[in-house]
Amino acid sequence: MAFVLSEEQLMIQTMARDFAREVILPTAAERDRTHEFPADNLRQMGELGFMGMMVPDTYGGAGVDAVSYVLALTEIAYACASTAVVMSVHNSICCESVLYFGNEEQKRFWLPQMCTGECIGAFALTEPHAGSDPSSQRTTAVADGDEWVINGTKQFITTGANAGVTIVTAVSDRSKRHRGISAFLVPTGTPGLIVGKAEEKLGLKASDTVQLIFEDCRVPREAMLGKPGEGFKVAMAGLDCGRIGIAAQSVGVAQACLDEAMAYTKGREQFGQLLSDFQGLRWRMAEMACEIEASRLLCLNAASLKDLGRRYTMEASMAKMFASEMVNRVAGQALQMHGGYGYCSEYPVERHYRDARVFTIYEGTSEIQRVVISNNLLGPGTRR
Ligand code: CAA
Repeated sequence: MAFVLSEEQLMIQTMARDFAREVILPTAAERDRTHEFPADNLRQMGELGFMGMMVPDTYGGAGVDAVSYVLALTEIAYACASTAVVMSVHNSICCESVLYFGNEEQKRFWLPQMCTGECIGAFALTEPHAGSDPSSQRTTAVADGDEWVINGTKQFITTGANAGVTIVTAVSDRSKRHRGISAFLVPTGTPGLIVGKAEEKLGLKASDTVQLIFEDCRVPREAMLGKPGEGFKVAMAGLDCGRIGIAAQSVGVAQACLDEAMAYTKGREQFGQLLSDFQGLRWRMAEMACEIEASRLLCLNAASLKDLGRRYTMEASMAKMFASEMVNRVAGQALQMHGGYGYCSEYPVERHYRDARVFTIYEGTSEIQRVVISNNLLGPGTRR
């Protein structure tokens, strides 16, 4: 790849690759079967600096750029997509939101424990009836003396059962529509924060996805993240970086699929020749490699814009849309090349195929990415 990486970026990529392949990969299939949360991996990732990558070292983070983050996350996803999504939501959305919207006290309290991986972050925006349209959320936050009282239900919350802190959005002033939504930092164990039903999913089995129920959940006034009414902005800004994370996750899983397909076709003969000698399959693998490279570059481009301090909303959506759709094509092709074996859990491609399916759905569906991209190109349109 000709995208010029610095010595430091290459070193982080190598460190993540070594850790992912030596430590995470050997147990990924087992975790897929048992659904065991990768707590050990995440603890070690905290020690290596992967749990607060873009947080400055003054708050306990690794203080590296978004490009390095993307490179590391891609490597983790190559080994285990479940571990990668926890890393992504934690770094991209939670740490970044505290860093950019938190006051000094919140940053000093939350970031050091988040950066060690001791306190993992979750992000609760989605509700049962409000997925793509989060401004229609119904969870409320009502001021009562020195506290906010939160009531409502959040849906499909990644790491909701294992997080130490959840960033929750809630309507604090109904009359102001999305400008009346605020964000709160709610520690796990706060009375009234109830972990509800865990979803039985097609993939990402080792990452918990739960409902979070808030029943008269009281948090102090100081738990508000950002200003009153800034919660929608907190969420949208967090999702910009989150979408780069999902793009990186897609690239990692796709690369794993291609590597599996190459290894398999080089080892299996049919009609007296290796599968890897059939031109039909060779060309398909060439196309897969091109698509992965294009996705990787879109992802690095969005990360570079973030590093330059430029707006990168559209580029993050482009990377997320293209890479998440790409990995589903690539995983399908890789599975097909494995024939019947690809459909069986004996080969990792079966897990990759299931894991990849959600990438075009969470952190904004492919349809929402097209809305974001077209709005950035054309403006919001006249039918609002
Ligand atoms: N950064 C900062 N602010 C932003 C922003 C961004 N990227 N995008 C929009 N905003 C602000 C706008 O400036 C505007 O603010 P003002 O009115 O104060 O000027 C406000 O947000 C509303 O903007 P829009 O009118 O564009 O908003 P909209 O209601 O039309 O919605 C949307 C836009 C893109 C459709 C948005 O609702 C959206 O992204 N929907 C998808 C939600 C989503 O991705 N959910 C995923 C759930 S999280 C998840 O999956 C995590 C997980 O656990 C894995």
